[in-house]
Amino acid sequence: MKSKENIVFLGMMGSGKTTIGKIVSQKLNLDFFDTDDEIENKLDMKISKIFSEKGESYFRKFEEELTLELLKKKSVIIALGGGAFLNNKIRKEILDNHLSIWLKWDDKVLLDRIKDSHKRPIAFNSTKNDLSKLIKKRSNIYSKALYYVNCNEIGKKEIADRVIKIYENNKIKN
Ligand code: S3P
Repeated sequence: MKSKENIVFLGMMGSGKTTIGKIVSQKLNLDFFDTDDEIENKLDMKISKIFSEKGESYFRKFEEELTLELLKKKSVIIALGGGAFLNNKIRKEILDNHLSIWLKWDDKVLLDRIKDSHKRPIAFNSTKNDLSKLIKKRSNIYSKALYYVNCNEIGKKEIADRVIKIYENNKIKN
């Protein structure tokens, strides 16, 4: 990765950041990191438990520190938690130095995937209407990513191939 330090996947919960990130990491032979997994490992607690026992602001602070640290790596693939790109410091670092890719889906697909997810406290504790508003609001911010892949109606392999194309073009251009 010549010009940009790392490939960063962002987007809503349920958008496939981890799944696609892993596929791309295998194809490009680059290491993969998932910020949620890293947080769970470091704190030895599931995300849902961190939210219920320590609170969201504790999680967000931990997420900020850990993500900024992970972003110091070179030539790796990182899947962010759905809320991480909303953080100003994280977003600025990513937009300045990394190849950011938003996995974009129709709101309805996302809603159906996440509405009853026990492992996702933000989704589990919101009504469908609130989640729908959240998706709209966040999409404005996700859209600041350098690239997006419209994931509706294509399979995982095609999504990963499009990401790899973006990566290759980015390397060639710079
Ligand atoms: C969150 C998304 C989750 C996780 C936490 C908060 C969010 O990650 O970080 O539950 O605010 O959107 P995924 O996007 O991997 O589900």
